[in-house]
Amino acid sequence: MTLDEIDKIKEEGLRECDAVKTLPELEAVRIKYIGRNGFLPQIMKGLKDVSPDERSEYGRIANEFKNRVGSALDLKKAELAAGGAANGESTFDYSMPGIWRGLGAKHPISSIIEETIRIFGRLGFTVAEGPDVETGYHNFEALNTPAHHPSLDNTDTFWLETGELLRTQTSPVQIRVMEGRKPPVRIITPGRCYRRDTTDATHSANFHQVEGLYVDRNVSLADLKGTLAYFAREMMGPGVDVRFRPHFFPFTEPSVEADFTCHVCGGKGCRVCKNSGWIEIAGAGMVDPRVFKKVGYDSEEFTGYAFGMGIERIAMIKYGINDIRFLYENDARFLQQFV
Ligand code: DAH
Repeated sequence: MTLDEIDKIKEEGLRECDAVKTLPELEAVRIKYIGRNGFLPQIMKGLKDVSPDERSEYGRIANEFKNRVGSALDLKKAELAAGGAANGESTFDYSMPGIWRGLGAKHPISSIIEETIRIFGRLGFTVAEGPDVETGYHNFEALNTPAHHPSLDNTDTFWLETGELLRTQTSPVQIRVMEGRKPPVRIITPGRCYRRDTTDATHSANFHQVEGLYVDRNVSLADLKGTLAYFAREMMGPGVDVRFRPHFFPFTEPSVEADFTCHVCGGKGCRVCKNSGWIEIAGAGMVDPRVFKKVGYDSEEFTGYAFGMGIERIAMIKYGINDIRFLYENDARFLQQFV
């Protein structure tokens, strides 16, 4: 192809481009001039037949062809699209590739809370909530925790200028629920808690607990154990058992700490359970009659059990997370694993 011929085709292309009235027509012009079987590839192929001293001029003309026709097509396309939009036509370009936004994942804390609600829901427990800003009465006094108890110290609890505090546990929700209704009561209360803890691999000043409370006639410690065993198996897997160790909490009598069989080694002993075969999961016990007295329940007629456990702890054990801080940093590389 001679340089003159290329120039002629270029002028022809620019004219055709100018005359076009619709996007499909424009597309036909594009294919004809710069498409894979159009003029441009032919022109490029011609380069190898040109004598060496004419080659650079040929290259320049070929490039000009490509640029001029290319930008005329782009301009016309924008013009037609804008005109279409002005006439109310869709300018959506269905040939454009989509934008990949990536899939989000549920945060492990949300997953554990939702799973916990589902498991206890199957046993008839409903969800109750209370405020994060609590009164000293609900967080401590009504839970039979005396004013001289170390957990009331400024070094442990975030006290506010109003005299209220950021709840240190979800247990005050027990009090609020019992104040508001008569037995039977069967609730769980997931929520945030706050303590003046220095952050490290297993502590955070802001964490989550889920509290459980069941009050009715003839509720016993055996019911508590059966309920926690059901939860253990549903949450951690079949074969997981529960054991109670005597403990002390101001608001329960007797009080226990509940351990689950280590789901990693099945109780044989491993690094996760520090070779004991058991993992401490919950504080629990039978509601102390003094707590019932505060909310006006007759402890001769009713008994109840309560328990409280850390959501982060369950998440860490279940998913093998060895540092609680991973749960708060929102590092996408960490969260990606839960998609
Ligand atoms: N509130 C306790 C804590 O923060 C956990 C707890 C223990 C809750 C015994 C209870 C219970 O309801 O009965 O460590």
